[in-house]
Amino acid sequence: MNPNLSIYDNLGGAETIRRLVEAFYPRVVADPLIGPLFPADINPVMEKQYMFLTQFFGGPSLYSDMHGHPMMRARHMAFPVTPERAEAWLACMSAALEEIGVDEPLRSFVIQRLSGPAHHFVNTESSTND
Ligand code: HEM
Repeated sequence: MNPNLSIYDNLGGAETIRRLVEAFYPRVVADPLIGPLFPADINPVMEKQYMFLTQFFGGPSLYSDMHGHPMMRARHMAFPVTPERAEAWLACMSAALEEIGVDEPLRSFVIQRLSGPAHHFVNTESSTND
């Protein structure tokens, strides 16, 4: 891991972000806590996430160029994001990073970087079944 480079470049650029998204969403869809929140056709979500993570990790601003200001917390308000769901999302991401061969310390660094937004998107405290 080179601390002088962006996460995007540390990961290896576009091809790695693509592989990450492709490893991440099958886990998301299969997850009992967060899977049910997602639409049957996951492809548009994967494409948006590819664009968003590219720019979030310091690559080209693909998401904003196409969709405008990310306003990611607002975009998640339609979905009941509980603390447990934030953890489930991060666990899927951690497993996907491991699956595609992103080693420590980069893997933990990426998860740490995503952990802030994930918990910031929590909009429902209930830990029941909703
Ligand atoms: C905290 C737990 C999270 C849950 C439960 C969650 C769930 C969702 C759901 C249900 C959607 C909408 C799918 C649809 O289009 O119907 C979505 C969209 C999206 N999420 Fe999350 N998400 C979480 C965290 C995150 C994080 C941490 C990021 C990135 C840092 C992220 C990035 C995105 C993006 C880029 C989209 C597409 C937004 C758009 O429509 O343009 N999500 N998420």
